Amino acid sequence: MNLEVLRQDPRVRVADWTVREWSQIVQAVCGLSHMDQLLSPQSALSNSQVEQVLALAERAQDGEPLGYLLGWTYFDALRLTLTPDVLIPRPDTEVLLHAALAHMHSTKPQSVLDVCTGSGALALALKARCPDLSVTGADISPNAIDVARANGDHLSLSVNWVVTDLFEGLGQFDLIVCNPPYIDPNDDRVEPSVRDYEPALALFAEKEGLAVIERILERASCHLQFGGVLLLEHGPEQHGRIATTARKLGWDVLACVPDLAGRDRVTTMRAVDDR
Ligand SMILES: C[S@@+](CC[C@H](N)C(=O)[O-])C[C@H]1O[C@@H](n2cnc3c(N)ncnc32)[C@H](O)[C@@H]1O
Repeated sequence: MNLEVLRQDPRVRVADWTVREWSQIVQAVCGLSHMDQLLSPQSALSNSQVEQVLALAERAQDGEPLGYLLGWTYFDALRLTLTPDVLIPRPDTEVLLHAALAHMHSTKPQSVLDVCTGSGALALALKARCPDLSVTGADISPNAIDVARANGDHLSLSVNWVVTDLFEGLGQFDLIVCNPPYIDPNDDRVEPSVRDYEPALALFAEKEGLAVIERILERASCHLQFGGVLLLEHGPEQHGRIATTARKLGWDVLACVPDLAGRDRVTTMRAVDDR
């Protein structure tokens, strides 16, 4: 069978892959670059390659996200290995990354903590862009930290990885970034491919999604150097409640950064009182 015929096969079409996704699948299974695929759409495939693509299509039809099918994804041009123990990093989180970079441009921090690091996406992207920065990535899941550490080793990026519940046992940093679990477990808008495949620990938090965020707001200021800033990703409807709680706890809420769709996505705050 050739590439073009396989693409039109009903057993592949059920996967409903976009052109880009299909290209990534073909590259992963057959080793053909996107350019090879465009120039030689009639490339012959071995039986084993066809079987592998069909097996992936069957898993995709069941709802399994592309990141887990491939076992990797890109975040800020870094290729990160993924396992089902970690959330698939989202483009929305690049908004948090860019907000952090903009902040760092003016404040020149020396140390940063990525708490709830998962695959290590934010910690590694910050280290890749700012090699002199001291970066710590922390997560409560030992399996997630194993994935993050493997990603760091593979990319030759030196990050201090810690398994811990939020800030327990951690010192102080100039900057904290965090993409915590913030989805209400009762939110019926969550796609089955997310709910069924991504780790619940990475997605859901009680109190309408705010339980972990509230703990972060209560504790993070003790782990910031004087004048340090916390950048927190959250759901689009959560900014108002987060800002109210943050102010009550003594934070100076500086800004809310929108995502590419213009929705409130990242709240930036500074600890103001003498702690
Ligand atoms: C939404 S994922 C974010 C992963 C990664 N930062 C990203 O943006 O792709 C949230 C992460 O928080 C971790 N987590 C949940 N509760 C935690 C806690 N109490 N302390 C530390 N990490 C926690 C989960 O294991 C998960 O890896």
